[in-house]
Amino acid sequence: MGAHRDFLAIPDFSAAELRSLFALADRMRRGEYHARPLQGKALAMLFMKSSTRTRVSFEVGAWQLGAHPLFLTPRDVQLGRGEAVNDTARVLDRMVDGIMIRTFAHADVEEFARYAQVPVINGLTDLQHPCQILADVLTMHQHLGGYEGKTVAWIGDGNNMANSWCDAAMQLGFTLRLACPEGYDPDPSILARAQATGRVSLLRDPQEAAQGADVVTTDVWASMGQEEEQAARARAFARFQVDGALMKRANRAAIFLHCLPAHRGEEVSAEVLDGPQSRVWDEAENRLHVQKAVMAVLMGGEPLG
Ligand code: CP
Ligand code: NVA
Repeated sequence: MGAHRDFLAIPDFSAAELRSLFALADRMRRGEYHARPLQGKALAMLFMKSSTRTRVSFEVGAWQLGAHPLFLTPRDVQLGRGEAVNDTARVLDRMVDGIMIRTFAHADVEEFARYAQVPVINGLTDLQHPCQILADVLTMHQHLGGYEGKTVAWIGDGNNMANSWCDAAMQLGFTLRLACPEGYDPDPSILARAQATGRVSLLRDPQEAAQGADVVTTDVWASMGQEEEQAARARAFARFQVDGALMKRANRAAIFLHCLPAHRGEEVSAEVLDGPQSRVWDEAENRLHVQKAVMAVLMGGEPLG
């Protein structure tokens, strides 16, 4: 319905568009962008799950671009009492100029996008976390000078982050080695599509994945909504901690990334998260810059390229 553009997953932007988006985000990061293309507009932010970074970066980012952000949770909106997703989408559509959603089922975000004419931005689903991966690639730009020819090692769960890394590797052409325990692979169709490029591989051994990598990255063992699986997952992921020994397998100049929140002593040791190769605070800051670029383009008419 409608000719608007949404951002639900990385492939919603072409490789060329992603390059321009990173250039725009980089200008924002350097403090070289002062326009307010969202002046007089409103952004609805629907959070069906908790958030620190996504909430603050979208709220502050929208405000910096001139928009009024609305923070909405199931306690505040009728969606939490069973109002249909498509009814909510059609109502918000009449009042705001963009909608950011964080929820469980990816299909709910797709349904929102079908029913709302205004741009819909995915702030995390069980399947995808595309805004975070944009921030991670921007951090590669910042600290490694780009992503071309680089190798990223993903250690741990084949979750929403892993799926969005697969999409990014497919679209941008870097090498991605995923090390996941059996039974915790990425989404089969997203993985297969990425593997067809010949640059994405699924391994079982974290050491092998990290060998010579430029980026070593991981995420929690139990994502939001999987809290009751924590004990079983802790057993399955015991060999999948990013520690000093694993970082030694990577390039000497390799960086460590983590979307946060992190659990020191589980998926990452404190020495790595707080160590000299960690770029996690820049990575978190880059959420602000890259999402401002996305909002400026989708909601503010900022041209790409
Ligand atoms: N990385 C990330 O999305 O963090 P929040 O859950 O705090 O938004
Ligand atoms: N995989 C994690 C990411 C949190 C930002 C989750 O979905 O909970």
